[in-house]
Amino acid sequence: MKTFRKDFLWGGATAANQYEGAWDVDGKGVAIPDLCTNGTHTIPKRITDGFEEGTLYPSHEATDFYHHYKEDIALFAEMGFKTFRMSIAWTRIFPTGLEETPNEKGLEFYDAVFDECLKYGIKPLVTISHYEMPYGLVEKYNGWESRECIDCYVRYCETVFERYQDKVKYWLTFNEINAGTMVMGATLSLGTIKDYYGTMMGVKDEPQVRYQALHHQFVASAKAVKLAHEKYPQFKMGNMICFITMYPSTCHPEDILEAQKQMRMINWFCSDIQVRGEYPAYAERFFEENDIQIKKEPDDDVLLKEGVVDFYTLSYYMSNCVGNATGIAKAVEGNIVAGLKNPYLEASDWGWQIDPKGLRYTLNEIYDRYQIPIMVVENGLGAKDVKEADGSVHDSYRIDYLKKHIEQMKEAVADGVDLRGYTPWGCIDLVSASTGEMAKRYGFIYVDKYDDGTGTLARSKKDSFCWYQNVIRTNGEEL
Ligand code: BG6
Repeated sequence: MKTFRKDFLWGGATAANQYEGAWDVDGKGVAIPDLCTNGTHTIPKRITDGFEEGTLYPSHEATDFYHHYKEDIALFAEMGFKTFRMSIAWTRIFPTGLEETPNEKGLEFYDAVFDECLKYGIKPLVTISHYEMPYGLVEKYNGWESRECIDCYVRYCETVFERYQDKVKYWLTFNEINAGTMVMGATLSLGTIKDYYGTMMGVKDEPQVRYQALHHQFVASAKAVKLAHEKYPQFKMGNMICFITMYPSTCHPEDILEAQKQMRMINWFCSDIQVRGEYPAYAERFFEENDIQIKKEPDDDVLLKEGVVDFYTLSYYMSNCVGNATGIAKAVEGNIVAGLKNPYLEASDWGWQIDPKGLRYTLNEIYDRYQIPIMVVENGLGAKDVKEADGSVHDSYRIDYLKKHIEQMKEAVADGVDLRGYTPWGCIDLVSASTGEMAKRYGFIYVDKYDDGTGTLARSKKDSFCWYQNVIRTNGEEL
């Protein structure tokens, strides 16, 4: 039976805005997350009009990778990482997104980070844009609503591709691009929030704007892929989807149809475009029924075809039930999108329904559809860890979650899925994207940092650290 490839890319994943800190150091500009307050599970984080006195902005320090990268990468190497997924903060390179020339200091930082990774044989896997929209582009263009953003993004890609061509092979154009199919995508990824101050979900939903902005992201992604293929044949270009597997709540045909509809428009729509190079037929009806008209330039469809990705990546944390024809299903929370309760699953403290077998099912569905290499670039359990007096953290719940998901990845490989890598989310503690909390931790490495902004930032190993080290050492044989 097939198992993980010998060159399987084990590693971990992070994003600049949740991890780096140093938000205004060495010429970095303001990105949307820099204007976001902290929140909790029940109190939503807010985007503010400028910086409020006495308010905490968690991205400003985060867990300070900027000043700890050597120590952190050494710890990743100790775990045996083959790859490290991280993002470049667009605003370190182009502070407002509008500049013509890049900020040299920003470029130097990532040179140093990549060199440090390569010193240990760790291959960087770089997300070009991970929920880090320059605020300058929000103010000037209302973010991705404007086509102008395409040129700004391509200029940024040209710069980082040229600079890091010998250091980075694997690139992802946009983190969870399908966030734009959901209301909170306006804040998270599309930046269509000019003059909006409030919570992520409080933003007025404008589907016409969202899908137009998404179209601009598709074109930008395709242009970046095309550029890479033409100029840097050594690059491998990937997409990235927040995959929220949807099961029908019951076998009522209406629930089945509802699940199919949501699977298409939330999970498949973006990758159908990025992998197959054209808008899927089912989208036409959705656009008609929702009165959405996508404005395209004459070359856009050609570009989408020319800029298809080489590999597919996803984040996978949970599954949801949808469709409630019988009225018996109950609501539940979730990553980016809420859904209905699955009576056969348990949920995390944040209400995300834990479903390892759903990962096997999902990987098979993706591979059946596209037949290109796949990487799981986010997965993990956000949990409240308790640090003992001696500094240890006994996170058996995290080990249990990861173990069950890796087992199912192994099953998927045996099913025939071409799986190339696995980078669990927040391999070191960092700020939560949805709530702005520190209390929701994912890491193998504990960081002494708390919700009130205090903490020494000292790093220490949780129990999961040694466990994952052994998983990598045995290429997933010992779990
Ligand atoms: C993904 C994002 O949706 O989920 C990450 O790509 C995020 O940025 C992760 O951190 C986990 O979500 P949260 O809200 O628990 O941080």
